[in-house]
Amino acid sequence: MTNPGPTEEERRLARLVRAHDRWRGHDVFNLLPSENAVSPTARRYLSSDLAGRYTLPISMEVDGETLDNSYTGTRYTDEIESLANAAAARLFRARFATTRPLSGHIAALSAIVPLLPRGSRLLAIPPESGGYDGYAPGFVPALFGYTVRPLPADGPGHRVDAAAAVETIRRERPNAVVLGQSFFLFPYPLREIAEAAHAVDALVLYDASHVLGLIAGGEFQDPLREGADLVFGSTHKSFPGPQGGLLVTDREDLFHQLDPALVWRIFDNAHWNRIAGLAQTLLELERNGREYASTVVANSQALGRALVEAGFPLVAEADGYTRSHQLHLDRPRLRASLGIGAGAFARRLERQRLLIDLVARIGTAEATRLGLVPSDMPRLAELLARGGIRKERVGREVLAWRRSFRGLRFA
Ligand SMILES: Cc1ncc(COP(=O)(O)O)c(C=O)c1O
Repeated sequence: MTNPGPTEEERRLARLVRAHDRWRGHDVFNLLPSENAVSPTARRYLSSDLAGRYTLPISMEVDGETLDNSYTGTRYTDEIESLANAAAARLFRARFATTRPLSGHIAALSAIVPLLPRGSRLLAIPPESGGYDGYAPGFVPALFGYTVRPLPADGPGHRVDAAAAVETIRRERPNAVVLGQSFFLFPYPLREIAEAAHAVDALVLYDASHVLGLIAGGEFQDPLREGADLVFGSTHKSFPGPQGGLLVTDREDLFHQLDPALVWRIFDNAHWNRIAGLAQTLLELERNGREYASTVVANSQALGRALVEAGFPLVAEADGYTRSHQLHLDRPRLRASLGIGAGAFARRLERQRLLIDLVARIGTAEATRLGLVPSDMPRLAELLARGGIRKERVGREVLAWRRSFRGLRFA
């Protein structure tokens, strides 16, 4: 039979993927704080043969025979996993690590569900204070029968105050304090929180989804040394890996309770191409994560200053705007001065090839990977102001500048 060639739909799909790759990979400045640029070697591993393979290295009895895996052909896969877990443990200076969780959300479930029975009480930062929606009462807590009470994170910068957090922990006596935010500008007073939590036998679970790459590079804070029992999160926001999750801890008791509980509860197969790509990113950060993370934070702070000079309203001005990869436009002041909401404002910028998110967060992680440094931030702020505030057509200028950055730094 002759090969009839691709169908019209297949050709359309190929065009869409090519167009996406050109648009997002070359033609825009990505300032979304939830995303990053994956290194070329990690991308190659993502499309390797591993993409279609299984391994399940779990001992089981079948017809009187003891098996060490359900599959054959896994000799390299199992070694790749060991290498990835060892690299994660080294980079985060943790005794135990798993790179299996398929995303940040699944990493959160991997930490919470095996350790906390139904009926457990959680303290978490509510979404209106920049917390992650997944920890709001209707989501993970509803699914697994937890009650959740708010841990306060006040003011427009959503900072957690030590005294207020300690008072809340003593009053609520939760089973776990879940830290971490989607709007995440400043580190937590973690030592005080952990001391209060441990005094009431509560676990301290640190969702580092947004700041994992900074923590890897010794910036922001060092949760395991400051009292967190488990640290977990996404591997693709400030951490520049493929989409996925990981979890690290020093606590043998917790790790041995949760690690065997993941398979057949939270997931089955663990996507080994992603784990190979993640291992590559972990190794790259071992070499140059410190410089990457400190440049990200320096870029954020420089962009904060430049944005305010260019006329943007930002939150947390008195605190230097940020200690992370994020900056937050002050939404009420933005609306008052421009007469449009943050969503319409972000769409206006998108038409000029500048991507910020529709809830007014601006991120510097991917720009840092492209090679931008603090002295580039006034130019970036000026383009954002001309495109976003003054409604000028700056798309061509953005494109020319974007195309002058070739390859990725720190990769
Ligand atoms: C704090 C926090 N935790 C977890 C997640 C979920 O991460 P993922 O999309 O990797 O599942 C997010 C997503 O934005 C987040 O902001």
